[in-house]
Amino acid sequence: MSENPAATTPAAPATDAQPVSIARAPGSINVLLVGGGGREHALAWRLRQSPSVGEIYSTDTQNPGIASICQPLDFTFDMRDTFRLQRWCIANRISLAVIGPEEPLCGGLADALGGWEDPFAVAGAAQPAHKHTSGGLAAAVPYVFGPSRAAAQLEGDKAFAKQIMRQGQVPTAEARTFTDFDAARQYVASRQEPPVIKAAGLAKGKGVFVPSSIQEAVAALERILVQREFLDAGKTVLIEERLKGREVSVFALVDGKTIYVLDSAQDHKRLRDGAQGPNTGGMGSICPSRAVDDRMMDRIQREILVPTIDALKREGIEYRGVLYAGIMLTPAGPKVLEFNVRFGDPECQTLMARWHGDLAEHLIATADRKLEHATITFNAGASVCVVLAAEGYPDKPRKGAVIEGLEDAARIPGVQVFHAGTIRNERGLIAVSGGRVLGITATGDTPDDARDRAYAAADKIRFAGKQVRRDIGTDVVG
Ligand code: AMP
Ligand code: GLY
Repeated sequence: MSENPAATTPAAPATDAQPVSIARAPGSINVLLVGGGGREHALAWRLRQSPSVGEIYSTDTQNPGIASICQPLDFTFDMRDTFRLQRWCIANRISLAVIGPEEPLCGGLADALGGWEDPFAVAGAAQPAHKHTSGGLAAAVPYVFGPSRAAAQLEGDKAFAKQIMRQGQVPTAEARTFTDFDAARQYVASRQEPPVIKAAGLAKGKGVFVPSSIQEAVAALERILVQREFLDAGKTVLIEERLKGREVSVFALVDGKTIYVLDSAQDHKRLRDGAQGPNTGGMGSICPSRAVDDRMMDRIQREILVPTIDALKREGIEYRGVLYAGIMLTPAGPKVLEFNVRFGDPECQTLMARWHGDLAEHLIATADRKLEHATITFNAGASVCVVLAAEGYPDKPRKGAVIEGLEDAARIPGVQVFHAGTIRNERGLIAVSGGRVLGITATGDTPDDARDRAYAAADKIRFAGKQVRRDIGTDVVG
């Protein structure tokens, strides 16, 4: 890799590049997949279609969807016990580790498996994040898909992300950070409009408040800084200008030097139709997004992705994995709301539904800094994922309801049912075990065709208290 920051060279959505043809023997790549949600079920489903993939092992085969594809580990996964995991990966000839969620990435699992120089890269370790330099230790896994702990701070520490954006002159909401409640409260009280309040650390997607009054903003500060609802993730808050516009998720594979922008996708975060009700992890998604065209994607790449990766590089941090930029399309241009260091959930389900070619080879090309030679295309048409959520979600999801109609739903052409919050109960029946239960994902020639199929399938599935939005994949914003 070149050390010159300016060397970040985005691949044009390549049509004439050579496909990565490493000519691996069919079935020769054993994969370890970390994570147990709908995103990981979708990744497992697409990886299973890669000719080069042999066994796929998962850390979370309690998810019946994942269990139908992947082998379980023969021990309980504990990411603090990296030594055991390393030995297990070597013994089972794991060639590719795919790390789905942010927690293990921010905790340094990619460093631990990839043999990068970070001896303290374990969740909860008190030491500061080390800068990633490759080649320090022998790798337990030759190819690790997912950024190092240092790079994952882009999601794990919103104050760090703001600093990187400032250094790279990346357009984003104006923000100030505070650790002291009184100072933060005074600042909020001095604002004309209620600002957005964010816990700086990882808070399982719950640490962001978009208040509609100054009082509500102060209440959010109190929950984060005084009541410490998010524990150490709330040691620091960001008080941020509220941006207006249309939100879009942009995903790019990044191998340290090449940025390969994927098709756009968009999720719907509010619980109820018409973007009403509380924020959720996402009630559905569409790919491609209806809101961005190629020109906007080029602009996002030029103004946001490239300078961010370059700014990290100037800090001595190489980013390898998928970078997810949550972007607001404001009248003044695209601005960053947040970075995530993983695929979105449920955006990943719609991306995987249209992914073309050998996913394992693409993830290896990313880990191996060979994206420059890759061609990644998406099947024509569109995909839509409709989330079925549990009663009480997002505040207090109720567990236990038995789910019926799964086979009928899966029989509809173009439909994949991805499991998220499900479990096989003691009677062997599939039941609700979490807030977002299933992601009913369909492809179609047009967005409306994909929507129709996804809803036809979603309507076949029954469980007590099922919550579903009816406007996923439409023009509704939010
Ligand atoms: P985040 O986890 O930072 O993406 O925040 C969750 C959601 O809060 C985003 O998807 C937006 O809908 C909203 N949000 C976050 N930051 C802002 C902002 N500065 N202005 C307006 N909405 C925001
Ligand atoms: N869909 C939002 C997220 O994955 O963070």
